[in-house]
Amino acid sequence: MVKKQTVTDLNLNTRINDIFFLKDVEFRVRRDKKTVDMFFKIADKTGEIEAINWDVPTDRVEELGKIEFARVQGHITKKKSDGTLQATISSLIKTAPLDLDYSDYLPRSKENLDELMSRIFSKINSIENYHLKNLLRNFFDDQEFAEKFKRAPAATKVHQPYIGGLVEHTLNVVEICETICHIYQELNRDFLITMAILHDIGKIREYAYHKVIEHTDEGKLLGHIVISLEMIDQKIRSMDNFPKDLELMVKHTLLSHHGHFEFGSPKLPSILAAIALYYADEMDAKVSGFINIKAENKGFKEKWSKWVWWLERSIYLDEEAILKNKINKIDPV
Ligand SMILES: [Fe+2]
Ligand SMILES: [Fe+2]
Repeated sequence: MVKKQTVTDLNLNTRINDIFFLKDVEFRVRRDKKTVDMFFKIADKTGEIEAINWDVPTDRVEELGKIEFARVQGHITKKKSDGTLQATISSLIKTAPLDLDYSDYLPRSKENLDELMSRIFSKINSIENYHLKNLLRNFFDDQEFAEKFKRAPAATKVHQPYIGGLVEHTLNVVEICETICHIYQELNRDFLITMAILHDIGKIREYAYHKVIEHTDEGKLLGHIVISLEMIDQKIRSMDNFPKDLELMVKHTLLSHHGHFEFGSPKLPSILAAIALYYADEMDAKVSGFINIKAENKGFKEKWSKWVWWLERSIYLDEEAILKNKINKIDPV
């Protein structure tokens, strides 16, 4: 079925009538202890909008809670002060999987993913150390792994939360590490670039990205640091004579790449390459995350974005306008 209406087409008073993915479904019972309202989000690859289905018959709660994709009918009834929209839904009808083209619902990188993968392969070819190159090849010469790596998102929210996000993020981290190696000659390029390529490989199992992007049970229970460690350990076990001390450095750099215990690293970076990788990773996650927020707020006339939970702040949106003005104006001096 061809999707005609997307989330970005919706505005105040727009009539909604198309198939959307239902997210974060929650039923709340009113004070009268009888009436149940359904709070959720309707989503597709262009974004998501809060929606409410008032006064749901109690015998439909279970069925409605299980719906993933539905023909949604209703109206956009509210525009909040932060620019976000809210829909009031009048009808939800479950859609059969055969009627769906999932690519309408999966946000995707704007880059050519095959090109990004070939950049990863040329980085692997540039590694001189026999053991590190071998380790990388053991992963990336496996077509099934490479295909998953090419499609995986880097996150479900915050930075590069779309198909191809992992390879984009990985290449950004690799390029930041290349620059770090130019500045600080003390770093071993082979080791740092190898770790930049491998640092998030566990995300291919942390996330599901066939129908929609979400955490897998394994992702929720273990997280990508532990999954990556398991994958690397398995590979090293299958290789001949991977040096034990190098193995420890690889594992340490992987385990410590989130830099803090509270961000999921069981060890703090204790070697030079590990501290460099942590900052490179952090740099791309934060800068790419900022770019995302700015893109989401494009066309929104306020000076400040709404509150961003992962930054614990709002961000200033007038940056470009001010800089453009300055650049276009003739210097008065
Ligand atoms: Fe990570
Ligand atoms: Fe990362």
